[in-house]
Amino acid sequence: MDIRLKNVCFVLPTYNEAANIETTISNIHRIGNTLNKYKIFILVVDDNSPDGTQKVVKRLIKKYKNLEMITGHKQGLGNAYKRGFEFALTYLKADIVFQMDSDGQHDARLIPRFLNYIEQGFDLIIGSRFVQGGSTPDFSLWRKFLSKLGNLLVRYVGGVSSIKDCTSGYRCIKADFLKRENIRSLSTTGYSFQSELLCELNAQGAKTVEIPIIFNQRVSGESKLSLKDQIEFLLNIPRLGFRNYQDFIRYSLVGCSGVFINMGIYFLLTRYVGLSQYLSPIISIECAVLSNFFLNNFWTFQGRNLKESLIMKMIKFHSIAGLSGLTNYVIFLSLLVGFSTNDLIANLIGIAVGAVLNYLINSNWTWRKFDQS
Ligand code: GDD
Ligand code: MN
Repeated sequence: MDIRLKNVCFVLPTYNEAANIETTISNIHRIGNTLNKYKIFILVVDDNSPDGTQKVVKRLIKKYKNLEMITGHKQGLGNAYKRGFEFALTYLKADIVFQMDSDGQHDARLIPRFLNYIEQGFDLIIGSRFVQGGSTPDFSLWRKFLSKLGNLLVRYVGGVSSIKDCTSGYRCIKADFLKRENIRSLSTTGYSFQSELLCELNAQGAKTVEIPIIFNQRVSGESKLSLKDQIEFLLNIPRLGFRNYQDFIRYSLVGCSGVFINMGIYFLLTRYVGLSQYLSPIISIECAVLSNFFLNNFWTFQGRNLKESLIMKMIKFHSIAGLSGLTNYVIFLSLLVGFSTNDLIANLIGIAVGAVLNYLINSNWTWRKFDQS
């Protein structure tokens, strides 16, 4: 019988949280004391906060046992988590790791619920703002919009469409999934680390569940989410989807074959069947889309997402074709009108972005590899 207590480590990143960190730590402790199957560790990862966070934590270290702190220069939230995970695994021998904000926005009373799911065999439990019962009462309309949009992109491009909250900072993770080489391979440094980590855990096949959280008001101070973080987030989206470049090569070959089919059928219809130039493209385009669809289904992504019907995939494929066509057009127009780009170059850039988007969503949604539900 395994009687060793499981080590649970809370990794708390801090940047200027002198006013909040004590309450956060004492809340975790209070709940931790009620759990008898676990040994609780708290690890503060402070990036030399100028507000004296470290002074507060040093005082608390004398009061609480199993409270640790590591420090460094400010290099973003993602970097802080990477260092924190490494320390938790190497020195604290963590079996289970929590990610949590240090500003009181995450309710420590939910900790037993997270652990309950670990006991049921889940590997990743996400405190989710976007499932039934979850909410973000304090978010401005703008922040809500950004968060929703960001989540949509991560879900459908990153191959995690069944997960509603991909950027949440309140999570419980089985440490086996945080081995050093996996974590080091994550390249994001800021807030987008959250979404990259999620996609990595999903790719490893972590059994995942979301539990509702109310993302409370910050107790004191303000959010550190910067414009730089938001830009990194956007730039990182394509990387979340590109796990396999061989698929992309096949997909591109199929795309090229579609051009020939489109042209060939257009030629036949106008030159031999005598159909008008206005009607013929509608037929030739649809033939190319269908041929692309079948080639991708039975060749490029063969054997993937077999649970879903062919018709459903076909509908998705068509709607994504529409979306990338629209993207192509919007990019073309904005380059042409906004930046006076040469029209051919503007269209080429539009086509390239549209094609990549098309690939990313199809390979991670229409023909996704993993399904958690
Ligand atoms: N060490 C370190 N270094 N800590 C940081 C840094 C950094 O560069 N930037 C932020 N933090 C700490 C903060 O002190 C806080 O404890 C926690 O990370 C979250 O930062 P906030 O600034 O409070 O983030 P938020 O409330 O806007 O964002 C929350 O929601 C996001 C999704 O909307 C966080 O939970 C994010 O992780 C989450 O992605
Ligand atoms: Mn916060």
